[in-house]
Amino acid sequence: MVKGGLDAFKFNQAKNVIDTSKKVRIGIIGTGWIAETHMREYMKMPDVEIISGADLIEGKAEAFFANMGCPDVKCYNSHKELIDAGGIDAVSICTYNATHAECAIYALEHGVHVLLEKPMCVTLEEAIAICKAEKESGKVLSIGFQPRFDNNMKMVKEIVQSGVLGDVYYIQTGGGRRHGIPTPFGTSFIEADKGVIGALGDIGCYSLDMVLNAIGYPKPLTVTGYISNFFGKDPEYFASEGKPRAYADIFGVDDFGAAFIRLEGGIILDFRIAWAMHLDTPGDTIIMGTKGSLRIPSTECWNGTIGGPLKLYQRVAGKDVVTEFPMQPPTEEGNFYHKIRTFLDAVKDGKEAPVSSKEIIINQAIIDAINKSSKLGEEIKVEIPEL
Ligand SMILES: NC(=O)c1ccc[n+]([C@@H]2O[C@H](COP(=O)([O-])OP(=O)(O)OC[C@H]3O[C@@H](n4cnc5c(N)ncnc54)[C@H](O)[C@@H]3O)[C@@H](O)[C@H]2O)c1
Repeated sequence: MVKGGLDAFKFNQAKNVIDTSKKVRIGIIGTGWIAETHMREYMKMPDVEIISGADLIEGKAEAFFANMGCPDVKCYNSHKELIDAGGIDAVSICTYNATHAECAIYALEHGVHVLLEKPMCVTLEEAIAICKAEKESGKVLSIGFQPRFDNNMKMVKEIVQSGVLGDVYYIQTGGGRRHGIPTPFGTSFIEADKGVIGALGDIGCYSLDMVLNAIGYPKPLTVTGYISNFFGKDPEYFASEGKPRAYADIFGVDDFGAAFIRLEGGIILDFRIAWAMHLDTPGDTIIMGTKGSLRIPSTECWNGTIGGPLKLYQRVAGKDVVTEFPMQPPTEEGNFYHKIRTFLDAVKDGKEAPVSSKEIIINQAIIDAINKSSKLGEEIKVEIPEL
């Protein structure tokens, strides 16, 4: 047990005083499942006005805001109509993955700050175009990775950044679910023209972020990737979940991905992610270094949280020792609150985006390369232009 226990890693829970004299006017683009969580958090903020919302499906935005108790929010039928109408400072982009890039670019080109749901988009080319629009606009673009605000994730980063592992040379990460293909209120996650990328983009991006953020987001050099869809294409899978068997016909994305990634600095990243599998977990995350290694226990249903106390393995005075770090309690307000709050603070105070596109473009480049390498059946070089 680490000396000092929980107190050894105490994260600052002090609440910022919110300046209510300055309001942030918000538009919500896409009024499906995750938009509700955005709304609930915005409604807790005394310095936010929800001005407008948009959805491609006729009447969906109106029903959504009425249901949230905000019937006066102005509703539109597309992101373009909402942005062209003006009167907003920032948008939350809560559309399915396929339209992340077009919505983000349109907002930034029209001088609107953007909180963009994860994954950033679906290809590296789209990520580059988003970053260019961000740079030209000078506006804040933050990507919606709420696990970043989890105290255990902060502890992982602090331990790794302290240098206690020496030089990191090998990382294994990923996660899995035995039955976890998400079809909560529809099929946008599993359709090729809406989700576009499946487990890779939904939960793979979190596993990659956990370790890449801890080691400072080195660039990827080469990727050998593999994706498959054995569960999603099986009507029995959906029937056993009480879902329509026809979901298997609709299924057009990956439900499993694996990759061998070479990163700058001689680091190997071994990655696997599963929405469904005949296994409890594909393994813990491990970060191996020349002076120590860290084990981050996996969860049974991977969604970007940690499954148990971290363990640090070292050799001290000729002895093998293991230090266990007790799990940190969750933040009082929850990670999603902090995702929204830090974005608002960046907009108001002209601060850096809390989850920056400079990092997440690397996350997206790896996901893109896994897809491309899997289709080609060979290792590919990853090149991210300087922007
Ligand atoms: N951070 C998280 O914990 C979390 C959780 C769930 C989903 N998500 C992400 O949120 C996104 C949305 O997921 P969801 O489950 O809410 O999807 P959803 O299908 O329930 O809702 C998306 C909505 O966006 C609308 N839309 C698409 N393009 C649009 C456009 N150009 N203009 C206006 N509306 C448009 C669709 O009509 C749909 O109603 C996904 O990218 C997903 O990865 C994040």
